[in-house]
Amino acid sequence: MAKRLQARRLDGIDHNPWVEFVKLASEEADVVNLGQGFPDFSPPEFAVEAFQHAISGDFMLNQYTKAFGYPPLTKILASFFGKLLGQEIDPLKNVLVTVGAYGALFTAFQALVDEGDEVIIVEPFFDCYEPMTLMAGGRPVFVSLKPSPPQKGEPDSSSSWQLDPTELASKFTSRTKAFILNTPNNPLGKVFSREELELVASLCQQHDVVCITDEVYQWLVFDGFQHISIASLPGMWERTLTIGSAGKTFSVTGWKVGWVLGPDSLMKHLRTVHQNSIYHCATQCQAAVAQSFEREQLHFGQPSSYFVQFPQYIQRCRDHMIQSLQSVGLRPVIPQGSYFLITDISDFKNKMPDLPGAADEPYDRRFVKWMIKNKGLMAIPVSTFVSVPHQKFFDHYIRFCFVKDEPTLRAMDQKLQKWKAELMP
Ligand SMILES: Cc1ncc(COP(=O)(O)O)c(C=O)c1O
Repeated sequence: MAKRLQARRLDGIDHNPWVEFVKLASEEADVVNLGQGFPDFSPPEFAVEAFQHAISGDFMLNQYTKAFGYPPLTKILASFFGKLLGQEIDPLKNVLVTVGAYGALFTAFQALVDEGDEVIIVEPFFDCYEPMTLMAGGRPVFVSLKPSPPQKGEPDSSSSWQLDPTELASKFTSRTKAFILNTPNNPLGKVFSREELELVASLCQQHDVVCITDEVYQWLVFDGFQHISIASLPGMWERTLTIGSAGKTFSVTGWKVGWVLGPDSLMKHLRTVHQNSIYHCATQCQAAVAQSFEREQLHFGQPSSYFVQFPQYIQRCRDHMIQSLQSVGLRPVIPQGSYFLITDISDFKNKMPDLPGAADEPYDRRFVKWMIKNKGLMAIPVSTFVSVPHQKFFDHYIRFCFVKDEPTLRAMDQKLQKWKAELMP
């Protein structure tokens, strides 16, 4: 065809780092994939049973359900999160079920971001926020989390990565439409403190800005840290969309069930997008998520709760990975939440600055390619999670995923032991 094919909204967003790095890893024999964020173990038994029940029980679950969510699911989400957020949540007006948290984010951006609107994104950020802003015609405005120097002898921790309050305030203008928050944060694992959230909340209120908060890792918080939803702070429910994911909540990323919670004044616009695009999400998956939440509601806060057991297990995986990475001279930044950690590769950058790759290719990308090929380990370069002008500040970090089972962690250990032996003089 002679005509221009692709819509202009796709300009500049066609490259996807995941496709590139997953392909690279698949081309090498025997690579341990610690890049992508999905569990490689079975979901909890109650979730599997809920799914079996959904596909073998009521045959009407094979059919469409309500466009904005299967009623038992919207009902349990309303009651479960209503208690956590301290809000009376109406299942019909304040809840929308979407195709994963990705679907929730896309619906929110399409519903609220207009041509020329500014959207503040905290970096490092989950990589889809930038293209989703651009596709909606918005202008991403980035503000970076920066590490303060670790205390002597202490390992670096994601809690020491903070926003500079003056810089943050300077990003808000009369054109700012939305602030994108992600806590616990991917890729850093930072859990925003109450004080940090209060600052964001006051700026959003002062500048009449909507807060889109991605809280898919809300149950994965370690070391006694506490997840706080910004929508629970005074005056924030009215201007906040809170996004969650069944995939991350119950270790079922393939089910692709997500949700958005928020005030009707915002949600009605998301419903317009939803009913004119996706319209409807898989009924059986929604039924299985509803039953899983009903089970969790009964066990909430008790040792039998998955939301108690899962973070304990994942914290052990985190600690295992930290120790193993340290053994070869990598310097992990200890995450307080999520299932990712980033690790500092500066020492390698100093020792072997000339890894193969284009001169303008960020070092972390070259390092990951080298590591896949030579060490049989896959991670994701952190420059993937920052805006292009800021890549040079983050190109000495790579991200590992630790939501992995024992055999994968053992396979990682073997690779790292071999690496360590090669480092010996
Ligand atoms: C921060 C964050 N938000 C959203 C998603 C997407 O979640 P879902 O699989 O439910 O679409 C992910 C997945 O990796 C994520 O890390």
